[in-house]
Amino acid sequence: MLVLVGLMGSGKTTIGRRLAARLDVPFVDADDEVERAAGCSIEDMFEVHGEAAFREGEMRVIARLLEGQPGVMATGGGAFMNEETREKIMESGISIWLRADLDVLVRRCGRRDDRPLLKGGDMRETLENLIDQRYPIYGKANIIVDTGDMPHRTVVDKIMDELAAGDFILAGPADLHE
Ligand code: S3P
Repeated sequence: MLVLVGLMGSGKTTIGRRLAARLDVPFVDADDEVERAAGCSIEDMFEVHGEAAFREGEMRVIARLLEGQPGVMATGGGAFMNEETREKIMESGISIWLRADLDVLVRRCGRRDDRPLLKGGDMRETLENLIDQRYPIYGKANIIVDTGDMPHRTVVDKIMDELAAGDFILAGPADLHE
């Protein structure tokens, strides 16, 4: 499984979909699957049950997805921060960090208002703190790709180049079709 990690607004879902299409493999969005399993939105989950309950569900759902059909998976920004989840991803997948700078994230996150962690505070400050906390951990990913204002296609091209160059996919993306 190719697993996209990175902060909110880094483009995991959009790039993930395109990468899956390029490789002709299934795409799955972990946030969507968590919502489906819980029968409610992430926003409601945070509000009604709290973040800890969401994290529990997120961990379970990602573990299940990693055991399912291989393909491309986009994860929520906090998923890779969980040690157990991170270990499972490293064991059964190739992790790809979509790295973006603060300005890009602020601009992209400003287009949506359904992210619980970005509510009720200064978005720029929150994202800056999350960069400090999370970037050292995201840096453990197998592949790091900088995303900025370039077209999605360019980001997918970069990932494909990294996959082709890496030892971890010697057998080629055909592995993902099993
Ligand atoms: C979160 C990111 C969100 C979602 C939840 C928490 C995080 O996903 O999982 O709101 O902790 O960074 P996206 O990164 O897809 O926005």
